[in-house]
Amino acid sequence: MKGVILAGGLGTRLYPLTKVTNKHLLPVYNKPMVFYPIQTLVRAGITDIMVVTGGPHCGHFLSILKNGQELGIKHLEYAYQENEGGIAEALSLARDFVDRDSCAVILGDNTTDYELSSDTANFTEGAMVFLKEVPDPERFGVPVFDQDNPELIAEIIEKPQNPPNNFAVIGLYIYDNQVFNFIDEIKPSNRGELEITDVNNHYAKARKLRFKKMEGFWRDAGTFDTLLEANNFWAKRKER
Ligand code: G1P
Repeated sequence: MKGVILAGGLGTRLYPLTKVTNKHLLPVYNKPMVFYPIQTLVRAGITDIMVVTGGPHCGHFLSILKNGQELGIKHLEYAYQENEGGIAEALSLARDFVDRDSCAVILGDNTTDYELSSDTANFTEGAMVFLKEVPDPERFGVPVFDQDNPELIAEIIEKPQNPPNNFAVIGLYIYDNQVFNFIDEIKPSNRGELEITDVNNHYAKARKLRFKKMEGFWRDAGTFDTLLEANNFWAKRKER
């Protein structure tokens, strides 16, 4: 299985911090943010990784990650996303890299202490998303559970005004190779982006979208408050 880290975008919600560097390189306690998703993959034995980045500070990734060896990566590639075309567009840039393999995809601002290894080891086909209960599901993709099959999601609603439950679909996904065909089929959303939720809903329609309720810590560190929470969590973890 290949690993793909999506670390593009302008990070406007974190201006002025992201005027000086890419959001995913901001400090989370004692490391740049992107080290955390990389370590989630490497701990699961995924050492063939592509980082998709973009924006004015994308060159910083090369000087920090270099060839990835210090982080346990065996093979590191980079792709450049030209515009703010969305998560699914960023993932499409990994098509040749993933080739005929399956892939684990993490958004570069998602930090977690979750151990992914059994999910990647048991993965065969379709797609798997990870859920976490949150106080503010309207900020995220929210699952509608399948009435007939307790292992499946029937649909994901992106940022619903009236969420059907308190689960967020977090920025960690496992896909088989069909993901790139589904990306070809979707159209830009109202915010002008190719949405990963639309890709996931193709899997849902095909009754191939499984889920796992995650234990442990998870934050999307993309706002000032969640960035602080992520910093505090990893600082406390270090103390222990
Ligand atoms: C994206 C996805 C959303 C998901 C979230 C997790 O949202 O579209 O479904 O719940 O990441 O961090 P965005 O950060 O692009 O608003």
